[in-house]
Amino acid sequence: MIKILKSYSVLSSTVANIIKRQLKKHPLSKLGLPTGDTPLGMYSELVKEELDWSHAITFNLDVYLMNVDHPESYQSYMRKNLFDRTNIYPDHTHFPFRPTSAFEDKITESMGIDLCILGIGTNGHIAFNEPGTSFKSRTRVVDLSEQTIQDNSRFFGSVDDTPKQAITMGLGTIMESKKIILIANGDHKLNILNVAMNGEVTEDVPASILQTHNNVEVYYCD
Ligand code: PGA
Repeated sequence: MIKILKSYSVLSSTVANIIKRQLKKHPLSKLGLPTGDTPLGMYSELVKEELDWSHAITFNLDVYLMNVDHPESYQSYMRKNLFDRTNIYPDHTHFPFRPTSAFEDKITESMGIDLCILGIGTNGHIAFNEPGTSFKSRTRVVDLSEQTIQDNSRFFGSVDDTPKQAITMGLGTIMESKKIILIANGDHKLNILNVAMNGEVTEDVPASILQTHNNVEVYYCD
């Protein structure tokens, strides 16, 4: 199930090519999009080419509960790495918001996510669904785990300055995507990736739910 690629640049171009093919074949696609370090190469590949994003609709997986104009907000990240560098309409880009049921309604009204790209946390989280999250969970406000706050403090300079809460799509929401691609980069992700993809399907390892989806691809490089 895990496809091992030889470098980060191959991982980035492989996944970018899947998105390009999707948008060329189905310009009206709805995409689920991640943030973090892993997808940066994928976004930089995507913006190298003039791709028509004018019909695409995006749903980000998660956001911190923080000032959206902060340079480390996921809204800023997406503007900087993708949205401001394509012809996507700002109105077509969605981030989880409150009331979270209205965000879910937006996904439903758009007929669901066609292609969802995910990263994985070192504790097995996908989006900000931390270990112990119900497989049926929907979009909601969550407290981040100590591990995730620690991992993400590298972006904020200190644990104290790192947001402690977020709004995330639920596992149930993500699993309704028609196709899912999980990407992971680095030795520190290999163990959890193996546990999630080859171990028991358990709420203690949120990404393990992906074993039960019928259209998932997993790409890893060290
Ligand atoms: P990363 O995060 O790509 O920054 O390692 C992935 C995640 O925590 O979901």
